[in-house]
Amino acid sequence: MRPTWSNRLPTITATIITLPGDGIGPEIMAAARELLAAVGDFHYDEHMIGGASIDAHGTALTEEVLAACRASDAVLLAAVGGPKWDAAVAADPAAPRPEQGLLGLRKDLGLFANLRPVRPSPALLDASPLKRDRIEGTDLLVVRELTGGIYFGESGRDGDTAHDDCAYSVGEVERIARVAFRSARTKVTSVDKANVLETSRLWRETVTRVHAEEFPGVPLEHLLVDNAAMQLVSRPTGFDVIVTENLFGDILSDEAAMLTGSLGMLPSASIGGDGPGLFEPVHGSAPDIAGTGKANPLAMFGSVALMLRHGLGDGDAAAGVESAVDRALEEGLRTSDLGGEATTEDATRAVLANL
Ligand code: IPM
Ligand code: MG
Repeated sequence: MRPTWSNRLPTITATIITLPGDGIGPEIMAAARELLAAVGDFHYDEHMIGGASIDAHGTALTEEVLAACRASDAVLLAAVGGPKWDAAVAADPAAPRPEQGLLGLRKDLGLFANLRPVRPSPALLDASPLKRDRIEGTDLLVVRELTGGIYFGESGRDGDTAHDDCAYSVGEVERIARVAFRSARTKVTSVDKANVLETSRLWRETVTRVHAEEFPGVPLEHLLVDNAAMQLVSRPTGFDVIVTENLFGDILSDEAAMLTGSLGMLPSASIGGDGPGLFEPVHGSAPDIAGTGKANPLAMFGSVALMLRHGLGDGDAAAGVESAVDRALEEGLRTSDLGGEATTEDATRAVLANL
């Protein structure tokens, strides 16, 4: 962080890289910038990623953008991907994919720990497809391993056969297990498929050892992923921290998002490298509503809060944003994904009014 002087008081100002990406990305990023302007003075540096970068540069992530991210205090990303680039890949398997930009960024910055807090806002307890009495009191954190496993293994095709390899090392499991145990308030649930997969057996062995050696005071349970998927909807209040590998975490966190009423509500923080963290909503680029002004910016606002807390060390500002979102929802704010009519702009104004 570098010191700067406003016309009032000397303040410490951070440099934030903003990556709007594709689809609804630019709309919710503009909303995030409005929110941030009300929170403090920041330096911004905006760059392309994903499909936008493919169109401009032929690659989903340029070296220049990577270098800017490495040198920043925090990276805020909206969403990548869309049917246009999916079609290009369908026509030519060698064509670049928008998602490669996101995966490349996570890997390059060493962001092995993806935190996805799931805390249904009290005002939305009836907005979830699940019954209120099942979700009331849910407050859990998915700790997803983000730079290993099947996402980053060797893959390829041979005639009519395709393969994606899944590998985990002891070191990769140890470090994510530590993040989970340190984040726990009441217990850690480690999720794997140890009855079938060798990587899961290594995962379970390693989590068990890290627990015994370093965190014996934190209750630990192991669940198979199919059972965990079932329990997430049947008794979500039974979870505190869920730690799991990359692909299982991807799937379980979308499932968990519905406890909050909409995928449009879930934020995430990716941390663990020695440089900046990456903060992004869990949802995608929603090409079906891109350009309509209807996107729900609340997952993005939640990601701004996580950036303030984990990336810029300002827990008070983060809590301020989170309670402004809760209050706006209590006043009745509902975007279309929550069955209402509020636009991105309405949502932004409602949250700003409560800040
Ligand atoms: C997520 C997304 C990404 C992932 C995609 C866009 C590559 O689904 O952040 O959950 O699978 O990690
Ligand atoms: Mg996902």
